[in-house]
Amino acid sequence: MSAIEQRILEKTWFYRFQLPNGTITSTYDDGALDGIHTSRLAMLQTVIDARFGGTLAGRSAIDIACHQGWFATKLAQWKADDVLAIDARSEHVADTTLMRDALALSNLRVQQSDVHALEPAALGQFDLVLMLGLIYHLENPIGALRQAHALTRQACVVETQVVPGMSGMVDYGSYRFVRPLKGSFGIIDETDDTHGPEASTTGICLVPSTEALMWIMRKIGFARVEILPPPADAYEQLLHGKRVMVVGYVD
Ligand SMILES: C[S@@+](CC[C@H](N)C(=O)[O-])C[C@H]1O[C@@H](n2cnc3c(N)ncnc32)[C@H](O)[C@@H]1O
Repeated sequence: MSAIEQRILEKTWFYRFQLPNGTITSTYDDGALDGIHTSRLAMLQTVIDARFGGTLAGRSAIDIACHQGWFATKLAQWKADDVLAIDARSEHVADTTLMRDALALSNLRVQQSDVHALEPAALGQFDLVLMLGLIYHLENPIGALRQAHALTRQACVVETQVVPGMSGMVDYGSYRFVRPLKGSFGIIDETDDTHGPEASTTGICLVPSTEALMWIMRKIGFARVEILPPPADAYEQLLHGKRVMVVGYVD
């Protein structure tokens, strides 16, 4: 076993990474969350197959809020020419870099950044954008979705926890100006959890309803927005519509 593999196996990870020597990293909570990752990977695979013919060769991709880089390493292993993995937390950037080196993925770059600080004009566009597990930790989820749209050349996959939606009509200043609700946001308090590796960095979180997410993605410029169906054995939250994974296409 190499020194780098030994270092990796000394800690517990958020994801089950398979190392070159065949060993698999142990995960938090005795693997209770593994299913959420494998279900989302299977759903992402359907986009890679349908839109990109099963390979990212010749394409670029960005994973925004990459955590320890599991999805970013998958994008690199799908042979993307260039993958950029971004996370706000320095420890995740260090872990993603360690994993990139262990897996010898020369097509994977890693950078520390808040999603809102990304500069699409400088970064350019990516054929595939991933924004998984992020927007429900943000106080400005629409701003983050606008960033994702600006970075998207072809397809953007967004996955999020969702809240039950409200619908109906609102007297918007007066009974003469009635407007329909397009969806809703729930407020979740993570202010005591901002130290957590998966958590918000600011603590005030706006979680969209599915209707809100779909409407916003269309409104900010995606030509087509589709909900990805979960597989029959998907993680329970995906199966029961408590989380959704959607793909927005630029054309
Ligand atoms: C629930 S984890 C999701 C990780 C991964 N994308 C996934 O779906 O498995 C949330 C991630 O968002 C990152 N994050 C939180 N706020 C962020 C921000 N404002 N900008 C960039 N990353 C952020 C966290 O550090 C963490 O890695």
